Amino acid sequence: MIMPMHALAEANTNIALVKYWGKNDPTLNLPAVPSLSLTLDGLTTRTEVEFAPSLAADVLLLNSAETGGEPLAKVSRHLDRVALALVGTTERPRARVRTVNNFPTAAGLASSASAFAALTVAAAAALTGGAAAAAGEFEFDRGQLAILARQGSGSAARSLFGGLVVLGVGTPGQVHSAQASQLLASSDWPELRLVIGVVSERAKDTSSTLGMNHTAATSPYFAPFVAAAPLDLLTATQAIKARDLTRLGEVAERSALRMHASAMAADPGVIYLRGSTLEGLHAVRALRQRGVAAFFTCDAGPHPKALTTAADADAVAAALAAVPGVQRTLIARPGEGARVLPLSPEPA
Ligand code: DP6
Repeated sequence: MIMPMHALAEANTNIALVKYWGKNDPTLNLPAVPSLSLTLDGLTTRTEVEFAPSLAADVLLLNSAETGGEPLAKVSRHLDRVALALVGTTERPRARVRTVNNFPTAAGLASSASAFAALTVAAAAALTGGAAAAAGEFEFDRGQLAILARQGSGSAARSLFGGLVVLGVGTPGQVHSAQASQLLASSDWPELRLVIGVVSERAKDTSSTLGMNHTAATSPYFAPFVAAAPLDLLTATQAIKARDLTRLGEVAERSALRMHASAMAADPGVIYLRGSTLEGLHAVRALRQRGVAAFFTCDAGPHPKALTTAADADAVAAALAAVPGVQRTLIARPGEGARVLPLSPEPA
C-alpha cells in the first residue's frame, strides 16, 4: 500500500502581550527579545498539504486563489525545512498546499503566525504521519514543531500552543534556542478577552520582518527596547500566574508602546500607528479611568486592540467601535494550540 502523504491542520493566530521585535540572527530567524502571547480562539488558518510525486512544482492555493511569487517561494522553502528536519532530505515530492483563513485577509488581520503554524503541522503530519495523519490522529511534539515554525515566522512558534505562551530569546547560531512553551492553558484563565478594532482604511504597511530589521539596524531606541524586555517578561509571567489582569495589562501596554517608539525612531521612521489606532488607545485609557480593566496593544498594522475580561468585553468593543475609522470589532477568547484534523471530516 502506498502511504498517504496528505494531512490537514489548523492553527489560531496569537497576539503578543510582550512584543517580539528584532532578530539577533536573521538567518535562523532568532528573536532578539523574549515574547509572550495569547492564542486567540476563532482567528484560524486551515492548511492542507498533499505531497504528490506526479506534481512538477509546488502549488499554493491561498483562500482558493492560485498564488505564485514570494508567498509560494516562502511555502516551498518552509516545506524543504520541515522535510530536512523530519525526514533528513529536501528531496521531497512536490506539494499541493491549500490554505484558508477564516478571518478576512482584506481587513489586514492575516497573520503569518497562524499560517506558518498550520503549514508546519500539516507538512509534518503529511511527511511522517501516514494514515494516522490522514485520520487526524497524528501526535506531535509541539516544542519541536515550534522551532520549525519559528524559522518561517517568529510569532508562528507561539501558535503551536494554546493559552498564554512564551517564546524565548535566541542565541545566535543555535537553531534550537528560542524555544516556545505554554505558561497557561486556555482553560486556566478563560475570562480573558482580546478585543480588536478593525480599521477600515488600509494603506500598505511595512511587513513586520522589514520593519523590525530596519528598526534594529537604524533606531537608537532599539537597544533600550531590547534591554527592557526581560523584566517585562518576568513581570508578565508573575502577573499571569497570579491571574492579575491589571499588572499584565500594564506590561502589555508599555511593551507595545516601546516597540512602536523604537520603530518610529528608526531612520526613516517606521510608523504603523494611525489616527484610529491612537484614538483607540485613548478610548481604552478613558474606559480605565472609569474603572474598566482594559489595556491597549497593537502590532505592525493600524488596528487598535485591547486586553480585557469577558465581563467588560462588550463595553470595550463598543468604545472601540465608536472610534472614527474603526469599521467593526471582534472579541476573541483564549484559543487552543495547532492541531491535525481528519481529511474528510464528518459533515456537521
Ligand atoms: C508586531 O513574527 O511576523 O506582531 O519572524 O519576521 O516573520 P518574522 O516576524 P513576525 O513579527 C511579529 C511582530 C509583532 C509582535 C509579536 O507578534 O510578538
